Amino acid sequence: MKIKSVVILLFVVNFIGLNMIAVDILAQERRERVKIRIIYPAQEEVRDGGVLDDPMDILVLVNKDWSLPEYFEADDLVVPNIPYLSRVARENRLLREEAALALEKLFAQAKEDGIKLYGVSAYRSYARQKFLFDYYTKKLGEEEAKRLSAKPGHSEHQSGLAIDLTSSSVGYGLTENFGETKEGKWLAQVGPEFGFIIRYPQGREDTTGYSYEPWHIRYVGEEAALEIHKRGIVLEEYLGK
Ligand code: DAL
Ligand code: ZN
Repeated sequence: MKIKSVVILLFVVNFIGLNMIAVDILAQERRERVKIRIIYPAQEEVRDGGVLDDPMDILVLVNKDWSLPEYFEADDLVVPNIPYLSRVARENRLLREEAALALEKLFAQAKEDGIKLYGVSAYRSYARQKFLFDYYTKKLGEEEAKRLSAKPGHSEHQSGLAIDLTSSSVGYGLTENFGETKEGKWLAQVGPEFGFIIRYPQGREDTTGYSYEPWHIRYVGEEAALEIHKRGIVLEEYLGK
């Protein structure tokens, strides 16, 4: 009986040990993956090719032509200290650290100016984006889905540099008329001072690939944001792509 117990115990210990090694290998693999900083051109509609960017670059271009590596996840994601709609999952509250700090400053300014904004959707993994794109495709058909939602790997939300914001004046939704509200106008005007641009402005679908999204802001850093705002251009034009 005693020997049997010892054998079982040895077996269990060995099993746990092997599992721990396996977990460690997986974690190591994950770290290795995150270290790979290559951005691949999308398979379809590649324009002039151009320089391959670094997905950890604050100015990384993610659009219909340029995608992030499928498994890419920035290694400095944090939850910014701002109010989110309560239904938003923790994973979707994440932003890259630099963007999160800038967002907290933007929200502090908003408070001073009597503006109340809420976070809706920030980081989205490849898998989450795939779920959303498939959902829109089923609901609206692929053509319309492509105007509203990025294909997995092609969403700025995966970069950890973009966040959707809303306010009570639009019933906490993501709708075009947010751009006409006091909060939406304030965001477009003041956001650049903190490094954020309205990424998909009205009437620029030809270049950005997406219809107007006054709620989707992208962190590009103060210098780029101020210039983009001043010249009334979009990120593609700023980067010359
Ligand atoms: N709605 C934006 C384009 C996205 O899905 O990333
Ligand atoms: Zn968005």
